[in-house]
Amino acid sequence: MGNFLAGKVVAVTGAGRGIGRAVALACAAEGAKVVVNDYGVSIEGGEPTSEVALGVVKEIEAAGGTAVAVADDISTMAGGQRVVDEALARYGRIDGVVCVAGILRERMLFNMSEEEWDPVVATHLKGTFTVFRAASAVMRKQGSGTLIGFTSGNHQGSVSQANYSAAKGGIISLVRSAALGLHKYGVTANAVAPVARTRMSANVPMELKEIGDPEDVAALVVYLLSDRAHAERITGQVYTIAGPKIAVWSQPRELRAAYGEAPWTPERIADFLPGTVGVDPMPMLSRLEEMARAAEGARPNG
Ligand SMILES: NC(=O)c1ccc[n+]([C@@H]2O[C@H](COP(=O)([O-])OP(=O)(O)OC[C@H]3O[C@@H](n4cnc5c(N)ncnc54)[C@H](O)[C@@H]3O)[C@@H](O)[C@H]2O)c1
Repeated sequence: MGNFLAGKVVAVTGAGRGIGRAVALACAAEGAKVVVNDYGVSIEGGEPTSEVALGVVKEIEAAGGTAVAVADDISTMAGGQRVVDEALARYGRIDGVVCVAGILRERMLFNMSEEEWDPVVATHLKGTFTVFRAASAVMRKQGSGTLIGFTSGNHQGSVSQANYSAAKGGIISLVRSAALGLHKYGVTANAVAPVARTRMSANVPMELKEIGDPEDVAALVVYLLSDRAHAERITGQVYTIAGPKIAVWSQPRELRAAYGEAPWTPERIADFLPGTVGVDPMPMLSRLEEMARAAEGARPNG
């Protein structure tokens, strides 16, 4: 056992499987008391069971650590509050929350139903809000704490997961808002965009060239929760970890600006925009086009 998080209390959502489980185990191994939240659902979000969260608590206890299970649904305000209340009731404080819970309902945008959109956005985006909301109220008073959201490289856009991509983009803006709003209270907020072998990544339609294990992601999260990361004043950041690679994503900013003469008309913009501000090509679109060309070339009569 290490002591990177000695004396801290950390709550992890989606901690029953995959990356969340690895985060919960690593936090406990580094000395934190852990609230293990998991609703115990299928990839699509159905068939909840409390066994999944309990199983990880047993694993932590067997390894000599301290943990408690909360099997609630964090896409509800009551569920998010329960996660934080359990930390306070059992351990008297909350130093970090890590929002890992997620589901997938894949469909092309033009076929996507409300039942495919709402639960995905509710689990990822609202499920990060409910826990951040409850935890930040306590951390503000404590004058310390760390909020960690889980996003994805897919926040850049996705062919067949507009619901997931939109939620993951929202999480980045939520994290940056939390970083700004809680800065003066000594609370940091960061996001992780992982690539790791789990049941969820096994479902990704395209080949993932760079991929690692949930334990690599857990090591990054432990660092972000630690006093070492606070000392470096790390906040408002998005990190990818994929096997041996760690990357930081850029902050959104205006790429290029040009000044014409107002008042604008559509025609004057049509004459002005293409040769001045132009476009910022989408890397994901270039990849799609490459893949389409490769598929075309691979056809027998291509
Ligand atoms: N695995 C990857 O490569 C990858 C890539 C990009 C992003 N992510 C993100 O990382 C996170 C973890 O993914 P994973 O691959 O470990 O998935 P996973 O399916 O293995 O685990 C997700 C866990 O979340 C739980 N969960 C779902 N809805 C919940 C709810 N409403 N309340 C509480 N718990 C709930 C599930 O029961 C499950 O145990 C997700 O947010 C995912 O979007 C993963």
